[in-house]
Amino acid sequence: MVLSTGTNKIITAVFISGTGSNLKSLIKFSKFKKSPISIKLIITNNKLAKGLKYGKIFKIKKKIINFKNKEIAEKKIINELKRNKIELICLAGFMKIFSKNFIKNFKGKILNIHPSLLPKYKGLNTHQRAIENKDKYSGCTVHFVNSKLDSGKIILQKKVKILKKDTPDSLSKRILTQEHKLYPKAILKVFNL
Ligand code: GRF
Repeated sequence: MVLSTGTNKIITAVFISGTGSNLKSLIKFSKFKKSPISIKLIITNNKLAKGLKYGKIFKIKKKIINFKNKEIAEKKIINELKRNKIELICLAGFMKIFSKNFIKNFKGKILNIHPSLLPKYKGLNTHQRAIENKDKYSGCTVHFVNSKLDSGKIILQKKVKILKKDTPDSLSKRILTQEHKLYPKAILKVFNL
């Protein structure tokens, strides 16, 4: 992806469904001079998402989208993205899957973070599956989003050792700490920085 010329940063929307710890780390990253992104919009499908508080704290516009009807939801999102001149979408714990058509509209402009070493463990319960399979390592992946779940081109990965005493919860916490570092690094890589 090419960074647009001039001093303007890439106008970015972050999509969340829950705690928003990755959102928080992306917001902090966006404040650095060397960061290519500026976060202008937070979108969620969950009006109770804890991460929405970061909208208030950092004065970023929030939009709650009801996903009962996916087609209508996606139309609303597209309007919102256009209205806010969004150039990059970062999914960060967003628990809805977009239609092929939506993804086509933003081809190469949607990133996601996933808590496993893809292509291993696409989908949910990644930590439990890695522990049950007695894997030595798990980790996290930032990838481009394409029309197949968790299958787009990998940008960066970070390995995390699985300890004997690990539960899905303890492993998830250690991986999450790495996610917070990996997502900003992956964004720098996307923009060749
Ligand atoms: C992260 O583990 C992310 O990889 C996954 O969902 C979790 C979201 O955590 N897609 P948070 O809301 O960013 O704290």
